[in-house]
Amino acid sequence: MAPDLALIGGTGLYRLAGLEDVAEHRVDTPWGRPSDAVVTGNLHGRRLAFLARHGSNHSIAPHQINYRANLDALKQLGAKRVIGINAVGGIREDMGPRVLAVPDQIIDYTHGRITSFCDGSDVAVRHIDFSEPYSASMRNGLIEACRRAEVAIVDGGCYGATQGPRLETRAEIARMKRDGCDLVGMTGMPEAALARELDLDYACLALVANWAAGCGDEAEISLDEIFANLEQATSRIPMILQAMLAA
Ligand code: HPA
Repeated sequence: MAPDLALIGGTGLYRLAGLEDVAEHRVDTPWGRPSDAVVTGNLHGRRLAFLARHGSNHSIAPHQINYRANLDALKQLGAKRVIGINAVGGIREDMGPRVLAVPDQIIDYTHGRITSFCDGSDVAVRHIDFSEPYSASMRNGLIEACRRAEVAIVDGGCYGATQGPRLETRAEIARMKRDGCDLVGMTGMPEAALARELDLDYACLALVANWAAGCGDEAEISLDEIFANLEQATSRIPMILQAMLAA
């Protein structure tokens, strides 16, 4: 049975609690293997698919993720609607640690990643419209679900995608701020563009793990704090999903 909704879990989210009637799919794609098996199961009476973007033991770095295989695998399983869950650093004042946000724009600073399914084979190149990089209906669905679940959410913001796996310098974040970025993460691209190439309805749920370099009071970003904040932010996902799946 095709999933009603697929989730790609990022740092701090490697499995979905509460799934029933679970099946694991080791999907092969023309682009190679996805990060891990796709897990499908029922939640609140609806079919869900879940894939851990970094692998279930977080062994795949952002620049080494096979984004094409991940999205193709979800599409092969019949997914049409996808939420990418991404840990991010906060740049804008209202994007502090533990905030949840649904960005509406992207600036891509990554390099050397495979960014398209157009790979020089015989298939005609497709120049997708990416003026609005996320699906309006998925974004609205997420924001409405947060309202119903009484989970605070920031509607909108520009996601700056960096190469990682290192965090950024203060100067890099200062430049990103001048560019108009509100959030910074390492995995938002090329995932969003590839999802559009596959005609998937895709939106990002960003979980703020820390102040980006130079944005908070602290001189250094602590990994312990990142994980503690992510755990807190992730704990709200079941409420959002419940509201979303009930709709
Ligand atoms: N920068 C980039 N990616 C991130 C950050 C950050 O500060 N925090 C969590 N993911």
